[in-house]
Amino acid sequence: MSMKTAWPYKKIVAHRGAGTMAPENTLAGFRVGLQHGYHAFETDAMLTKDGVAILMHDPKFGRTIADTRSVPELTAAEIRQLDAGRWYSPFYAGEPPTGFEQAVRWCRANDVWLNIEIKPAPGFERETGEVVGKLTTELYADLIREGGAHADGIVPQAPLFSSFKPDALRGAKETAPNLPRGLLVDVMPDNWRELLDEIDCVALHCNHTRLTQARIDEVHAMGRWIFCYTVNDPKRVAELFRMGVDGLCTDRLDLVHPVQ
Ligand code: G3P
Ligand code: MG
Repeated sequence: MSMKTAWPYKKIVAHRGAGTMAPENTLAGFRVGLQHGYHAFETDAMLTKDGVAILMHDPKFGRTIADTRSVPELTAAEIRQLDAGRWYSPFYAGEPPTGFEQAVRWCRANDVWLNIEIKPAPGFERETGEVVGKLTTELYADLIREGGAHADGIVPQAPLFSSFKPDALRGAKETAPNLPRGLLVDVMPDNWRELLDEIDCVALHCNHTRLTQARIDEVHAMGRWIFCYTVNDPKRVAELFRMGVDGLCTDRLDLVHPVQ
């Protein structure tokens, strides 16, 4: 068996909204992604202390936000006061962390598709998946259809969830049963095939440096798509598509041009 249904999304997706071109996972970054012609973004969703979904990659501040605390220690209102832009450059100083709902509304208003990576802080895997799934279901209610979590029923404008944490995907499956899921892996776990089946995923999202032709063919034979992260060399992008990869994300919006 091979994939009967073509990948329904843009083939090239901007990683963390703007890749390395602007502060990641902020609206300022999303605007830069759009300026580069991208209409498909990957972004990371995490829960605050009061259970609000925000865009953030690292549970512990320090890399993109000058603070010693962590996302689950602060409320959304407290996090909103922090600066998510200064680390990148003085030009972006004062850029606030972005709320998940705020980001989705901006994306929908600007015809931008999302790959929502559910990125739980440790210990909040299931809860993060449930909350993000519920909120996403509400924000895309007009696009949600019965069967939309399966390859032949997908609504191309509706988002695709992904996560390295199976429990986060299980949570999203419970609250957003009609939105599709992708299993994110780095080193392939022994049970990746069983996880794809159990969580009913449409895609495997993998590190392109670990990918082989045999793995691509096997995933397609299982009736799943292959999405890769994070590919920053245009030659490698072309090579991966020749190998049959369905979609990928990139940081280099200046070198890798959006297609399709
Ligand atoms: O979803 C692809 C990629 O974003 C996974 O890695 O660490 O950048 O979230 P990371
Ligand atoms: Mg990510």
